[in-house]
Amino acid sequence: MTVKEDLVRLQSEAIEAIASTADEASLDKVRVAFLGKKGSITAISASMKDVPKEDKKAMGQALNAARTAVTEALDARKQALQDEADAKSIEGLDVTMPARSLPTGSLHPLTIIKDRAIQILRRLGFALAEGPEIETEFHCFDALNTPEDHPARNESDTFYFDSGKLLRTHTSTVQVRTMESAKPPIKIIAPGSAYRRDEIDATHLSVFNQLEGLYVDSDVRLSDLKGTLEFFYRAMFGDQTEVRFRPHFFPFTEPSFEIDVLLTVKGEKPKWIEVAGCGMVDPAVFDAVNKSRGDSAYDPATTTGYAFGMGLDRLAMIQWGIKDIRLLIENDIRFLSQFA
Ligand code: PHE
Repeated sequence: MTVKEDLVRLQSEAIEAIASTADEASLDKVRVAFLGKKGSITAISASMKDVPKEDKKAMGQALNAARTAVTEALDARKQALQDEADAKSIEGLDVTMPARSLPTGSLHPLTIIKDRAIQILRRLGFALAEGPEIETEFHCFDALNTPEDHPARNESDTFYFDSGKLLRTHTSTVQVRTMESAKPPIKIIAPGSAYRRDEIDATHLSVFNQLEGLYVDSDVRLSDLKGTLEFFYRAMFGDQTEVRFRPHFFPFTEPSFEIDVLLTVKGEKPKWIEVAGCGMVDPAVFDAVNKSRGDSAYDPATTTGYAFGMGLDRLAMIQWGIKDIRLLIENDIRFLSQFA
């Protein structure tokens, strides 16, 4: 048999083998058998060196033709196998069937309120700050001028760890931490969780959400505090919102106030609702911060500031007329889907 006849035979064997493959793996085996390093067609091209000179050209052409034919058959079969697999994977698919609707998620009401509060306050130049939820007594109480015998420090009000650390009872801890690490001027807000050992009912949870604000500079006044917070509550609840500052006491501010907004629910008598505590930073807080820093960056003689802390849960309850704070943590889809 001549080499040429060999080639013709190999080519048709290859084509036949290719046609009978059922998957890509066996197709690859056929390729290796004929065109691989030790493949039978490859072997013939290795024997080209023994072909007489005058036959070389014709042989070379025949070899190329065989290789091309087999390669094309391999490619075509590969494509056909892939097409078959594709067709199989959508077998029985009814493209006219109506799509199943995918439920889209939505933000939790607390997140919506928090984002809105942050957005309003950032417009007023406040930067975001944060601090740990497991705190020292120093950051939660001592530096905030809260005496040893203050009721907020009671075991019955505060979650203490054996180590003496505690779950922060308010976000005012971030005031202290921020002043420890940066010099004035400071203008920050710190949203975050706070923890108290409260009896759980429609208006109390043991975990709730606050947003703390602190502005410290050389000439910050009570009127700045008032204007800022009035602006805030009107931006939040509408231009007509009435805001009232009621004298109060906090160990870390002097003077101190509680802020109420007038809530008008259709068909009900308007009600003042407490929404925040605030005041001018007590010089004793600056003293404590200086001591902790080891300098006098917060000289009470030349430094003034205001602070405020508001409950975000309360804001959400006002915004949407939510009567029971527990709804905010129960994750009942019937409740949450109303905010979608
Ligand atoms: N930390 C106070 C509270 O939790 C609120 C407050 C913050 C009051 C800042 C004054 C200044 O009730």
